[in-house]
Formats: sequence, structure tokens, C-alpha cells
Amino acid sequence: MQIEKNKSLRAYNTFGIDVNASAFISVGSIEDLRTIITDYDRKELFILGGGSNMLLTQSLEKLVIHINLKGVEVISESESEVLLKVMAGENWHELVMYCIERDYGGIENLSLIPGNTGTAPIQNIGAYGVELEDVFVQCTALELASGKEVIFDKRTCNFGYRNSIFKNEAKDQYIITSVTLKLTKKDHKLNISYGAIADVLAQRNIAQPSIRDISEAVISIRRSKLPDPDVLGNSGSFFKNPILTAEEFQHFRNRHPDAPFYEVSPTEFKIPAGWLIDKAGFKGKRFGDAGIHEHQALVLVNHGNATGAEIWELALRIQKKIKEEFGIYIEPEVNVF
Ligand code: EPU
Repeated sequence: MQIEKNKSLRAYNTFGIDVNASAFISVGSIEDLRTIITDYDRKELFILGGGSNMLLTQSLEKLVIHINLKGVEVISESESEVLLKVMAGENWHELVMYCIERDYGGIENLSLIPGNTGTAPIQNIGAYGVELEDVFVQCTALELASGKEVIFDKRTCNFGYRNSIFKNEAKDQYIITSVTLKLTKKDHKLNISYGAIADVLAQRNIAQPSIRDISEAVISIRRSKLPDPDVLGNSGSFFKNPILTAEEFQHFRNRHPDAPFYEVSPTEFKIPAGWLIDKAGFKGKRFGDAGIHEHQALVLVNHGNATGAEIWELALRIQKKIKEEFGIYIEPEVNVF
């Protein structure tokens, strides 16, 4: 194990923000990970996964641990299902492709989501009608305080919309080391409820889609709306879609009858933050190198050399305007450091 000093983190965060870590180590085994967490106080450590859901606004005077645990293993299988244990450092999209190749169904709607498998449970990644929790069985994690391995099952993860125990009670206390998923080998439960997927399949004259067809449809939708972080730095949706009570929603809808919405339950209505930001006139705007994506207003972008502080300043400006214009608070989805 080699500790590097004053390491630039530019290549390790999808926003492409150039800040330094005072110390950096890439860790490829659980034994090494345990040694480090026993040697250091948890306040001295910063855990880095795929770097796809964070905004770095300052240099880190900490030891940054890059989780580089690799491996995908079939733990058990029947004729109809397979349990797959995936190490935390495996790239999520490569895992989706691995499953498509083997005809393992369940995560095809989650194609092309940036980041690593180990961080997927933290925000319960979701897209096009599917969330990680739909296929999740359990994850293993090391407790920072003790170095002990702990297992979190679906219930203890307490998943919600872009939420889990790892964003709440368990925040900053564990390093997820592996994730186990239950996938189908036949009779796949396809989810084409999301209008755009059905549209792409219809355009392609596909009446009986395979999981590969769905994955390809999702990839083409994402490519048309969401910027490729290798080309234009970004962290996907910057804000969560706000959820209004029935009363708040009625008030909002009276003033904006054209707004799209999604009924979560009879008392909860989700409004696309991208629509609010677009309506407030921000879409495609640029303030220095910090900007709002031209095809999806929910995505903040780094046009080259924006600092994390500049992107954060833009996020706060957007948040303030949405509050003034619609009376709605939009909460950041990315973790800001
Ligand atoms: N809209 C606009 N203008 C915009 C953007 C969106 O009017 O600039 C409208 C669209 O026309 C549509 C609605 O808002 O009617 C919803 O837009 P979209 O389908 O793009 O989805 P979203 O709600 O903005 C969410 C997730 C995405 C996920 C998509 C598809 C969140 C915070 N974001 O976006 O997740 O890919 O649905 O399921 O829930 C991510 O988390 O990083 C992410 C990209």
C-alpha cells in the first residue's frame, strides 16, 4: 500500500474539480482497508467511491481512501434466479453490461448510471421506473470505529427515494465493501412504464423487448439528455425532485396547470426539479465555467475550469430563485464537501 501526498482529485470526481487531497491511497483488499481504518481516526479519513455524486468545494486535509475492491461472484443460483455478490469498486455500468451479456434481468433500466456499485445503496440509485432496492438483497460494510464487518439487509438499509440509512443514522460510519443482488434468469420482469422507453421501443418496432433492448433504449435516452462526464463534468441530477403534500400540490397546480408531476401516493406529489429550473429560465445558462445543461436543467455542469465553490454558488442561486418563484425548496442530491 502506497500513500501519495498532495494528489489532485480531478480524475476521481465526475465534476472534474481540481482540488488536492493531502494524502491518497487506493485500496484493493479488505485486509488493507481494515488496517487503515484501525490505524486512523475516522475524522482523518475521506472515503471515495466512483466520485459521481459529489461536489468538492475545497482541498481535503485528510487521507482519501479510494475504494478499489474488485470482483463479481455468483453466490447461488436456481433455474430462475441468481444471487450476485459484487465488490464495491466495480463500475456500475460495467456490471449492468456483464448482466445483459449473461441475460440476468433486473438492472437494465439502470444502464449508464455513473459511479461504483459500492456507493449505489447510499442513495438508492434509480432511473426509468427502477431503483436499486428492487433487486437488492444485502451489503457488507466495515464499521469505521471498530473495523468489524456488518451486514445490512434490505430492511435495515431503510431505502427511500434517493435515500438510505447511509445518508442518515449510519452516515460516515461505514465503508460498503460489497453488494449482493438478486436477478432473474428467465421470465424477466420488464419495466417499460416510463413513457420515453416505450417511445424508443415503438420507434424501433420492438414489440417483445429483451433486457438488452431495454438497456439500449435507456442508453439512447440518457445520451440524448445527460452529458457524458468524460466530455462535460457533471454529477447527474444536482437536486432531488421535491415532494409536495396534497395541499401544497393543489396550490402549485392551480398556478401551474401545465407542470408535469408524479403521484407518489394520494398525499404525496413529486414535481420534476428540472421543470422548475427550466421554467425559472436557467436551462443552458452559463456563469463563467459553471453552467446548467442545455438538455436537462437538473444537471449542473463544469465547462472546464469551474471551481467547486463556483458550482455551489450557482446551485444556491438556483435554489433561492425556485423558492422565490414557486415557494418550493429543492434539496441537493449530490454530497457537498
Ligand atoms: N423537464 C423539463 N425541463 C428540463 C428537464 C426536465 O421540462 O430541463 C421535464 C421533462 O420534460 C419531464 C420531467 O421534467 O416532463 C421529468 O424529466 P426527466 O424525465 O428527465 O426526469 P427527472 O425527473 O428530471 C429523474 C432522475 C434521473 C433519472 C430520470 C429518469 C432524480 C433527481 N432524477 O430525473 O436521475 O435518470 O428521472 O428516471 O430523481 C440522477 O439521479 O443523477 C439522474 C439522472
